[in-house]
Amino acid sequence: MSSFVTHAGVLHAESVSLTVLAEQFGTPCWVYSRHALESALDEFHDELRGLDALVCYAVKANSNLAVLDVLARRGAGFDIVSAGELKRVLAVGAEPQRIVFSGVGKTSAEMELALTTGILCFNVESAAELVRLNAVAARLGKTAPISLRVNPDVDAGTHPYISTGLKENKFGVAYDEALALYRQAATLGNVEITGIDCHIGSQLLDPAPFAEALDKLLLLVDQLAAEGIVLQHIDLGGGLGIRYRDDDAQTTVKAYLQPLLARIKGRALRVLLEPGRRLVGNAGVLLTRVEYLKPGEVKNFAIVDAAMNDLSRPALYGSWHEIVPVVARPGATSTWEIVGPVCESGDFLGHGRALTLAGGDLLAILSAGAYGMVMSSNYNTRPRAAEVMVDGEQAHLVRRRETAEELYALEQRLP
Ligand code: LLP
Repeated sequence: MSSFVTHAGVLHAESVSLTVLAEQFGTPCWVYSRHALESALDEFHDELRGLDALVCYAVKANSNLAVLDVLARRGAGFDIVSAGELKRVLAVGAEPQRIVFSGVGKTSAEMELALTTGILCFNVESAAELVRLNAVAARLGKTAPISLRVNPDVDAGTHPYISTGLKENKFGVAYDEALALYRQAATLGNVEITGIDCHIGSQLLDPAPFAEALDKLLLLVDQLAAEGIVLQHIDLGGGLGIRYRDDDAQTTVKAYLQPLLARIKGRALRVLLEPGRRLVGNAGVLLTRVEYLKPGEVKNFAIVDAAMNDLSRPALYGSWHEIVPVVARPGATSTWEIVGPVCESGDFLGHGRALTLAGGDLLAILSAGAYGMVMSSNYNTRPRAAEVMVDGEQAHLVRRRETAEELYALEQRLP
């Protein structure tokens, strides 16, 4: 069941009308569905039942505390990439032993915080990071549990900005260097080798590259075991895509996990996953109101109150988000450019959309739960939008709208 459905001609989040939410909280406004979050996580748990597995939600996709809280209560662990994200997940009571730390540029201070917290694993991305982590752990009298993030050099076939598993990408340890680095890690006194990790890219709609990466990782697992380096877990990263458009290919969680389940049988390996987008992407919409219609000779513009500073994916990646009216209006459609008020021609949310519009109409920009609010900025001194989570018939404000004064509160004039 989709959590965003039309009842009596009005788009709802679960049982709450988006018209009512717009009146109550204003626009632009992010609206999340608790039910959608939970069912997305349940899909993973259902497929992994019976297996020693931990789904570590990639916090970067949507780090609102309410989102983290809902997922933690439903059994998720977390994949973090900064001290800030670590503090967020601890703020919702996440268990340290359910947290993995990814990222190519962990600072010593971040390592310290994670070591004193006692997280499950550091996903180490380079030889230099390994040496640094060992030194920081030694200074604290601790042992850092590690896996190496191996770059399996597979083509994930996604947008170049979000493809990470190729030789040319900055991520992970080159496949051919991984064995040597594991051997080096085994000689270090303050790291403990516990696993192996990869993440090949994001918004992947074909399960084949995951299977290819997995095979390459399992080969390393066996080579390491032959040398007496026995791993306890394998982390396949995140990356499973969602449907942004009706004609997008769709991969079920089942199809994605099938190669893993088939290959992991009989191996004493715990499975870790780091899905982000798949858990939150379709659980959120961005609600916006049409300020002005500006029909033109060449193009018709619908200027809405959300902009590229709110949802940057269209401007940044040319991403498509479905845009639908909250209340469908009768009449012939026209083709509209859906644009924001920001002073850049790149400020668009959708090109060439066939809609029947009038000034004041409410629109919902769909599949905006992942990499939406987290990537928003205050460009043009635009306060970031409110975030609301719907739970059945209840709507909870989970982040209030910023005020303009807050945006310059940290600034100083010269004496
Ligand atoms: N693990 C690691 C190490 C990652 O770098 C990422 C995402 C994930 C897990 C989660 O990937 P997901 O399951 O969400 O695909 N801003 C871009 C996406 C950037 C993804 C970065 N890494 C977008 O809006 O499409």
